[in-house]
Formats: sequence, structure tokens, C-alpha cells
Amino acid sequence: MRMVDLINKKKEGKALSKDEIEFIVSGYVKGSIPDYQMSAFLMAVYFKGMDREEISNLTLSYVNSGNTVDLSGIKGIKVDKHSSGGVGDKISLIVIPLVAAVGVPVAKMSGRGLGHTGGTIDKLEAIEGFNTNLDYDTFINNVNKYKMAIAGQTANLTPADKKTYALRDVTGSVDSIPLIASSIMSKKIAAGADAIVLDVKVGSGAFMKSLDMAKELAETMVAIGKALNKKTIAIITNMNEPLGHEIGNANEVREAMEVLKGNGAKDETTVALTIAAYMVLLGGAFKNFDSAYEKLKDIIKSGKAIEKFKEFVKIQGGNTEIIDKPDKLPNSKYHVEIKAKESGYIEAIKADNIGVAAMLLGAGRRTKDDKIDFAAGITVVKKYGDRVNKGDAVFILHTNMRNCTEAQNIVETSFKIGKEKPEAIKYLSLIHISEPTRLALI
Ligand code: URA
Repeated sequence: MRMVDLINKKKEGKALSKDEIEFIVSGYVKGSIPDYQMSAFLMAVYFKGMDREEISNLTLSYVNSGNTVDLSGIKGIKVDKHSSGGVGDKISLIVIPLVAAVGVPVAKMSGRGLGHTGGTIDKLEAIEGFNTNLDYDTFINNVNKYKMAIAGQTANLTPADKKTYALRDVTGSVDSIPLIASSIMSKKIAAGADAIVLDVKVGSGAFMKSLDMAKELAETMVAIGKALNKKTIAIITNMNEPLGHEIGNANEVREAMEVLKGNGAKDETTVALTIAAYMVLLGGAFKNFDSAYEKLKDIIKSGKAIEKFKEFVKIQGGNTEIIDKPDKLPNSKYHVEIKAKESGYIEAIKADNIGVAAMLLGAGRRTKDDKIDFAAGITVVKKYGDRVNKGDAVFILHTNMRNCTEAQNIVETSFKIGKEKPEAIKYLSLIHISEPTRLALI
């Protein structure tokens, strides 16, 4: 086989066989296929797409390029979740204890990565003493005993995706549905999940800017799950504004605890309950979505959810005092209010810009060696559709930097106030279940 022939084949819009895809992926990891040929191939995929069989084969080749995590020592169905990425997305912090509270095991392996804030691992490390360096046996034992554990990813999972993603990033081929779908699904499958719940974000703060694109991504990932025998559900959720009110690390932990105590923002609570309900449904603990959702709501109301979070913090070595005294979490020195310059209603928020501003304040990493400031972040005081009066704080920037004018300027120009109350965004989720497919609107 010659790479140039396969590039031409894809350029002509023809489907590649399993062996041809494996040749490309393994050749790229080994180094026998250079970056320039892989770049040309990725661009051909960007323009010509791939059919479902090719996408499943690409996913499998990514999985087979590295190690896979063996979770067979854990009793029960292991359900994982994944979000396609958004601003203020702290849902994993909420669903880990919620799902564990009904006895469905959550074995979460997370990477750190780059982004507006840290990943789930970084956020939890904002809690003094919280240890994510669990060895394999402790990880498995904790899941069996307490139904939950989280650990940083150390195994060499999906190296082909890692190398390809880095190349896509600098060659303009990130936003291709076949490439995103195979990239995400390969990581979940390599991490040992039996079943997967996907949260596909749509809107200004997401990869997918339109509902049609988000639906296509969701359906593609569900099809991969089906082809590779992993029960998969995808929901599509709104990312036209940050989720909840907090973006950062320590402040996202604070907000997650509020949801678990029953005082969370409506959008955040609904997304968390929906994802957790599908996770426990796939985990076999309930027969239908509605009964799962109601039970999880009761778990929050009864105080069991926050108790389970306390147990989670304790078994991972963290300081449990933060549960009753959230002020013990890191706090920044400066709090800068961004005020409304006129009265009216919040009509638009550029969620992606707010995320970038949070990163500039120290909440995220620009390069993988950057150190995160757990105390840095942004509070979204006024959400889409809220009434504001001139002079009201719309955002609060939390930072340890004396000078944060760059972030300040970004936030000041990233929201719009209108005279009329805007129409409520249909707070949706479209739900796709692999077998049978169901579409629902909440
Ligand atoms: N997230 C991933 O893991 N991969 C992509 O390609 C895009 C988002």
C-alpha cells in the first residue's frame, strides 16, 4: 500500500477499507507516514467525509494504537460520560457522587489537557489534599467499595489520536465530524467503559455552533458505540452561555457542591440530573429515565448526594471541611466587577470569549506546562434573559493578578444588553439512544 494512493482515494470521495485505515493510523504512529502526508489525508477527510463503517474502523485503529484500561475487576456495568467541551462545565464533579449513590460504579480516568479551566482532575485538586495519583489496585478497590474513584491518566491510551489531534490543531482539521467523533469515542473505549453517555454541546461556547452539526456529531458517536458494542446515549445541551454561574477551579467545586446540596442553578442542575439519569439507566439500576431522574432528585433533596461527595473527598485524601465551609477552598486576592453600562436584559453572551478570559486570569493552561491558579475564575452574575440595571455587576473576575486588563477588556465586549427581554432559549436536550433511537425535547 502507498499512502499517496490512499490520499487520492479519499480525495475522490471513495471509502477506505479497514486495512487501509489501519495502515494509515499505524504508519503515522510508527513514523513511516510523515506529517505532510497525514495532513493531506486529514484535509481530504475534512472535505469528503467518511461513512459510518470507516469512522468505526478509524476509532478502532486509534484504540488499538495504545494500551486499554482493564476494568474487569470492577463488579457491575461501568458507565462513563464525556462532554464535547464547554465553558463552566463542572458536570463530572456532580455526577460522580450522584451515580455512585445509587450503586452504579463510576471509574473515572481523566486527563488534564488545555482549556479555559483545568479538567476534572485539576478542579478536584483545588481541594487541599485531594489525591488523583491512585495506583491501579487502589482505584479498582475504591470503585468496588465506594462505587467511585478518579485517577489521572497515566497509561499510554490512544497515542494515535494524541498525535493526530496535535496535527489537526495546526492544520485546520479539528472541526470535522468523523475526526471528532472517532477521537472522542476512542478515548472512552480505551478507558474501559462498557457504556457511554455523551453530552454534545451546541452554541457560542462549543465546537458545534449549529444544532444540525451537533445532531450529526451525536448521531455519529452513537453509531460508533453501536458498531463497537458499547451502549451509547448522546444528549445535546445548550452552550450559548456558560453553564451555571462559575468558571474556574475552586469556584466550580463550590458550585458543584451547591448543586449537590439542592441549591444549584437550573441549567446546571437539569443537565447534571439528565446525564446522571442516563448513566444509571445504562448501568442497569433503573428501568426508565423518569424513575431514575426522580430518584436522583430525591437523593439531592435528602442530603445523600452531598454526603456521598464528602465520602468521595475523604477516600481520595481531601480536606472534607470544605463541604460545610466552602470558604476553605482557595480564594483570590482581587475581585473585579464588570458592570452594565445600560439597563435592559442580557441578550447575548459570547461563552467562548468568557472562557478565554478565565484562562487569562489563571484558571486554565495556555501550554501544557502552565500552572493553574485554583482561585482564579469568573462568576457569571447575570445570565441570558436576566434583567440588569445600569451599574449592576454582570460578571466578577477573580484573580491574583494585580493587572488583568486583557481579561477585563474581553469580558466587557462579550455580552450584549437589549431593551426587550429575549425569548427563552429552548432549554433543550435532544436525546439519542442507540437502540432504539429516541428524540426528546425537554
Ligand atoms: N475533543 C476530542 O477529544 N477530540 C476532538 O477531536 C475534539 C474534541
